[in-house]
Amino acid sequence: MLLLAVVAAVIGLVREARSSSPPPTAGAAAPSPSAAAPPSAAATTTPPPPATTPPAEPTFDRAQQSIDDPDSTWVVVDKARPLAPLDHAPADLVDIGGRQLRAEAAQAMRDMIAAAAAQGLTLSVQSAYRSYDYQVDTFRNQVARFGEARAEIQVARPGYSEHQTGLAADVGGGGCDIESCFATTAEGQWVAAHGAEFGWVVRYPDGAQDITGYKYEPWHVRYVGVPLATELQRTGTRTLEEFFGLPAAPGYPG
Ligand code: DAL
Ligand code: ZN
Repeated sequence: MLLLAVVAAVIGLVREARSSSPPPTAGAAAPSPSAAAPPSAAATTTPPPPATTPPAEPTFDRAQQSIDDPDSTWVVVDKARPLAPLDHAPADLVDIGGRQLRAEAAQAMRDMIAAAAAQGLTLSVQSAYRSYDYQVDTFRNQVARFGEARAEIQVARPGYSEHQTGLAADVGGGGCDIESCFATTAEGQWVAAHGAEFGWVVRYPDGAQDITGYKYEPWHVRYVGVPLATELQRTGTRTLEEFFGLPAAPGYPG
């Protein structure tokens, strides 16, 4: 009897020592939660679900089109980036209400005007493609009317205007054409909010003159295609210069 009691006591001590053994030393694999959990049919037959990771941000390839080629819908033209050649003229201009745009931009403009009309808004194209020679006259007239300093922040010199790419337009509506009041019209606000759905961006936004070189032009829209326009909107990027990491172009070099 005494012997049995001694044997039972020894077994008890051994069990106690095992249950209070120290955790695995550094380097040893830590037991997983499922390993520590009591065994169950599910745990033994179904592997634990993989750790969930948030879906990766869709990457936007900023190099998928040229920003230098004047025929690219992504071409960036500003005071530091003239068209090359300076007198470039696009080959696929088509008529839009008596003015001209490149074919793809013209269709996107028609689509935008139709969508605005469905909301009871009337948009009109006030200016579109302007040739090098036409821009010579436009710039000269602005200098005569406003003086050189003001003309420089309102109109591009010939060879430096987006209008010469056939991808830019000045739109009017709401009783305000090519004036800052366009920003306060329902038409102007709709264009700012929905233009990207048709590939258009307001190219010279408010407060970006230090980057674009031009004061706010709520009426001047530039066609860049839906993917880029919506990416600019999604990322809250105001200018093409910032999006493509280009230098600010507040004035002409030299
Ligand atoms: N008004 C814009 C800057 C242009 O002349 O191209
Ligand atoms: Zn314009």
